[in-house]
Amino acid sequence: MVALTFDDGPHPIVTPRILNLLKQYNARATFFVLGNRVDSYADVLQREYTEGHEIGNHSYNHASLSKLGEQEIAFQVQETDERISHLLPTAPVLLRPPYGAINDAAREAIQKPFVLWSIDTQDWKNRSSGAIASEVLEKVKDGDIILMHDIHTESVDAAIELIPKLMEKGYQLVTVSELAAYKNVTLENGEKYTDF
Ligand code: NI
Repeated sequence: MVALTFDDGPHPIVTPRILNLLKQYNARATFFVLGNRVDSYADVLQREYTEGHEIGNHSYNHASLSKLGEQEIAFQVQETDERISHLLPTAPVLLRPPYGAINDAAREAIQKPFVLWSIDTQDWKNRSSGAIASEVLEKVKDGDIILMHDIHTESVDAAIELIPKLMEKGYQLVTVSELAAYKNVTLENGEKYTDF
């Protein structure tokens, strides 16, 4: 089992293409969205949720949380949660800090589990999707969290290559919270997770 994660959206064109792909393979993923994008692309966010994917908090405007004071950190997280919970039945449980940047002050200020990753596809670089897929397939193991983005067309190309190959290898694609639950990990606020 692995968890595919898509950051920085929702995007009006790229995200629906990824959703179509996930639907085609009956796969689940986690979308770490930015608070300042969810109102503009509310329909995309709602589709993510309705189709069984997990929505996580990726801050309001992609700020590096380790450089902010307590109040600014609270704004980044709470404003994003609020906007999402106006559009969906639930607020996000998980937080992915932009750049993976988290320090002790941020860990104390934010009452959420921090989800990082064990495999970075670097899908945003202009590289061949075949190369990205084979690199991931060489490294991947059960319980991995795979970092991708849903704002670049390169990422869709990489996902088109990667998803069927992961499934051929026998991996189930689940959300981050599902992955933790299957591995009997109880997610704790203020803790960092890179894989399960
Ligand atoms: Ni990001």
